Formats: sequence, structure tokens, C-alpha cells
Amino acid sequence: MKLEEVKKIAIIGSGAMGHGIAQVCAMAGLKVIIKDIKQEFLDNAVAKVKESLVFLVGKGKITQDLMDNITKNLLTTTLDTKEAVADAQIVIEAVPEILDLKKSVFKEVSSFAPKDAILATNTSTMSISEIGSVVDHPERFVGMHFSIR
Ligand SMILES: NC(=O)c1ccc[n+]([C@@H]2O[C@H](COP(=O)([O-])OP(=O)(O)OC[C@H]3O[C@@H](n4cnc5c(N)ncnc54)[C@H](O)[C@@H]3O)[C@@H](O)[C@H]2O)c1
Repeated sequence: MKLEEVKKIAIIGSGAMGHGIAQVCAMAGLKVIIKDIKQEFLDNAVAKVKESLVFLVGKGKITQDLMDNITKNLLTTTLDTKEAVADAQIVIEAVPEILDLKKSVFKEVSSFAPKDAILATNTSTMSISEIGSVVDHPERFVGMHFSIR
């Protein structure tokens, strides 16, 4: 897959990491869909992204147009894994640091995502090979570590 082919990113888990990852992806102009297990978690994540975007507009770091595009077009949410990943080129998992949970998430993600989608875990401490052992085509499975500056 070429970089230009990446149009939509699915983020699984909308907590501290998930909503921040969603924000940076949307600020890069990509469509982002966040999946979580409760609507209130998703609403909270979107509110935090908006709050951060308002701050960045105020500082002159991004334009109001970009903020409007993100909130109206680029950033969406769902409670349904299939809806999140079925047409995503990249899926980034950011659920709690529990091995069995991450494996069950990837089993489901792997069954619905395109077979050439890159599947990434945001684990801090766990074996990437162990988590990735449950996915089809494990050669497209990666660990992704984000740093904040
Ligand atoms: N720099 C880095 O890359 C970095 C930094 C901190 C944490 N992490 C890692 O990122 C991951 C997430 O950490 P966090 O602090 O954002 O956790 P968090 O607890 O703040 O958020 C996790 C979210 O996942 C959701 N979730 C749980 N089960 C789910 C499921 N089946 N489907 C979808 N969503 C589900 C929870 O409801 C919650 O909203 C962990 O693996 C953590 O170790 C990475």
C-alpha cells in the first residue's frame, strides 16, 4: 500500500491515547472513525478533541476551516467494530493494556478489516508478536508508539 492510498483510519479505544491519536490523524486531513464500547466514552473523546482544536485555533496553530472540516466531516464515531474497520486502510488499537482484551479485539478487527489493511497496536509493554498471533496475514501487523512534544 502506498501512503497516498491511506484515506481512512480506524481507532479502537477512545481513551487518553485513542482520542489524541484520532486528533493528529484528522489534523493530517484523514478520515478517522473511533470505536469504543459506550457512547458516553465516544462523546467524551469528541469533546476533548474539540477542546484541543479550539485551543490550537486560538493559538493560531491551525485554521478555523481545518477545525470545522475535522468536526463536520473527518471525525466520526461508532460502537460497531465492523463499521469502524471495514473500509479502513489502517486500524490502530488503543484499548487498555490487557493481553486477552487486545487479542480479542484483533481477532474481531482481523475478521472485518480489508486483508491488506495495516493493523497496529499501541501497546506500551506487550509482545507485538503475541498480540499479532491472532490476525490473518500477520506480516501487516505492527506496533505503533506515539510521543507527545
Ligand atoms: N506513547 C504511547 O504510545 C502510549 C502512551 C500511553 C499508553 N499507551 C498504551 O495505549 C493503550 C491505551 O491506553 P490509554 O491510556 O489510552 O487507555 P484508556 O483506559 O484511557 O482508554 C482505553 C479505552 O479503550 C476502551 N475499550 C475497552 N475495551 C474496548 C473494546 N473492546 N473496543 C473498543 N474500545 C474498548 C475503553 O472504554 C477506553 O475508552 C494501552 O495499551 C497503553 O499501554 C501508549
